[in-house]
Amino acid sequence: MTRSGPIVHDLRDRFILAVDRWFMGRRFPRPGRVADDPPAGGSGGRTAASAPAYPAEGIEPGPPDPRAGRLSARLMRVNHAGEVAAQALYLGQSMLARDPGVRRALDAAAAEERAHLDWCRRRLSELGARPSRLDPLWWAGSFAIGAAAGAAGDASSLGFVAETERQVVDHLARHLRRLPRDDYRSRAICHRMMDDERRHGTRAVQAGGRRLPTPVRFMMRAAAGVMTATAYRI
Ligand SMILES: [Fe+2]
Ligand SMILES: [Fe+2]
Repeated sequence: MTRSGPIVHDLRDRFILAVDRWFMGRRFPRPGRVADDPPAGGSGGRTAASAPAYPAEGIEPGPPDPRAGRLSARLMRVNHAGEVAAQALYLGQSMLARDPGVRRALDAAAAEERAHLDWCRRRLSELGARPSRLDPLWWAGSFAIGAAAGAAGDASSLGFVAETERQVVDHLARHLRRLPRDDYRSRAICHRMMDDERRHGTRAVQAGGRRLPTPVRFMMRAAAGVMTATAYRI
């Protein structure tokens, strides 16, 4: 056996474990089942029991306006695509994290991102809309980027989290300005996600995240721009 054998096996095992956890842990329910899901604290199972409550629970949907509804659906589809990407980024990074503490921190943030994914999915279903058809592409590309960030070392990987979350907070603030005023449900979700993303970023900096070079930050913003512009339409 070559010396790289155990490393390859370890990476393979981590990948299988991580993907398994991702699929087991995430709920990607079909529209129609979503609205019946119990709120957090329900007895639905491991994830349902630990998942935070849907931020739009009990909030008035606002007056129906087809044009405003279409805009909300497009914006929430972009946010859903972003959360699909977040799952893959964190998975790639966690897989290649050196320090077990860093890996646990990445997994903890990923669990919150999974709740965001569920919320966006549920809101899309309420709006009668579908997720982006290119979600698998966002997932695959983000997984590769996450793995590359993880391979660069824990300090850079945490720096990547900090920068990503900073950009996501900016993005959500822009969406809150664009969302129809009376789409209270989508707004509640975006506000809650913004709080969580800000906390993820702060924790990554506190854990030793290194500031990324300007060209890298620029490229990240450009890649995110391509995804948001495309998911808005497809
Ligand atoms: Fe998120
Ligand atoms: Fe986040």
